[in-house]
Amino acid sequence: MLRSISAIEDSKYSGKTVLIRVDFNVSISDSTIGEDYRIRMSLPTIEYLSKRGAKIILASHLGRPRGWQSGYSLELVAKRLSSIVRTAKVGFVNNCIGNEVSDKINRLENGDILLLENLRFYKEEEANDPEFARQLGSLADIYVNDAFSTSHRKHASTYGAARLFDTRLAGFNLSREVEYLSMMKENPIKPLKIMVGGVKIKDKIGALENLLPKAEKLLLGGAVAYTFLKAKGMKTGISPIDEEHLSWVTKALSMYGDKILLPSDHIVASSPNEGYASIARDIPDEFAGFDIGNETVQRYSMEVGGDGSGTVFWNGPMGQFEIALFSNGTINMAKSVALAFWRGSKTLIGGGDTLEAMKKSGVSEGEVSHVSTGGGATLRFLAGDEMPGLNAINRT
Ligand code: 3PG
Repeated sequence: MLRSISAIEDSKYSGKTVLIRVDFNVSISDSTIGEDYRIRMSLPTIEYLSKRGAKIILASHLGRPRGWQSGYSLELVAKRLSSIVRTAKVGFVNNCIGNEVSDKINRLENGDILLLENLRFYKEEEANDPEFARQLGSLADIYVNDAFSTSHRKHASTYGAARLFDTRLAGFNLSREVEYLSMMKENPIKPLKIMVGGVKIKDKIGALENLLPKAEKLLLGGAVAYTFLKAKGMKTGISPIDEEHLSWVTKALSMYGDKILLPSDHIVASSPNEGYASIARDIPDEFAGFDIGNETVQRYSMEVGGDGSGTVFWNGPMGQFEIALFSNGTINMAKSVALAFWRGSKTLIGGGDTLEAMKKSGVSEGEVSHVSTGGGATLRFLAGDEMPGLNAINRT
């Protein structure tokens, strides 16, 4: 895949206008940006192009707004960006197409950076509307995709507009993602151990189907594990069960049962606010599981921490880690992934809440070989699904 995508080193930039599709879809609450990993991961591309004299236009979505909703404005992100980019001026324009945008672009000096307003304020973005794509495409000379995490979407900014450019390139962040995740998907250093938690089985099926034949072990936690336990005939109390995917789970167990590890003890409660108990094996009728128990932590840690060989992929927390009482499993497993890295394993973390869980556990980005910026995109890529944003910049 990477071989057929051109990297940004391959072009000349001075005085050229470059449209970079970034993914600045970060969490914001009470007008404060939470984790800014996605912003920071695009800095190498932005600064590289800025230093080479490009006039940079950044385009992103933020959340899933319904029309123009001020709470979804990217203005706050522009402020954050301007505090971390030291080499150039960062401006913001409160639209992403139209005269005001063109005027601001015309006034850019070489090296300047301009962030456009949320693309999803226009429904035409997600509809991949040709006229909207044309207007985005007319803003610049060169297109760069540095938004791996949104490359599973066939939207105007990731697909329609990209295809209108003669020069369309991959940013450093996107290239790094494709390189690591291709290694995982096609040729992981063995043994491959996969640890999966979180809530939705549906989102993980494709990736698991692709990775399970190559994996030595699949360790399950989070809500996902209860559906597997139920399919094995264990009592799961009032834990959430994904009835819709019970038959897929039963099939996976019959094909790969010897590789699949399930929790042998649990931290249970009748509701998240009602005290808790630690129990082994079957979960009583009035309780739901909220975290993996200590025995499970020890079993899983031995597998993941390992001897420093092979690859570890972690997707999804082991329990409701946002609540302190139920965070022990996730915290300890994050530490085991860090230990595997220090011992020499390739470790990859990706998807949804996993980065947040890692940070909460006190594990830093430097203690993991690769932290993917992607949630859905990472799982879709590992499943071998179509990635329109990558196809759009592919030369073949
Ligand atoms: C993500 O957060 O996974 C990406 O930014 C894509 O967002 P979306 O799921 O709203 O398309």
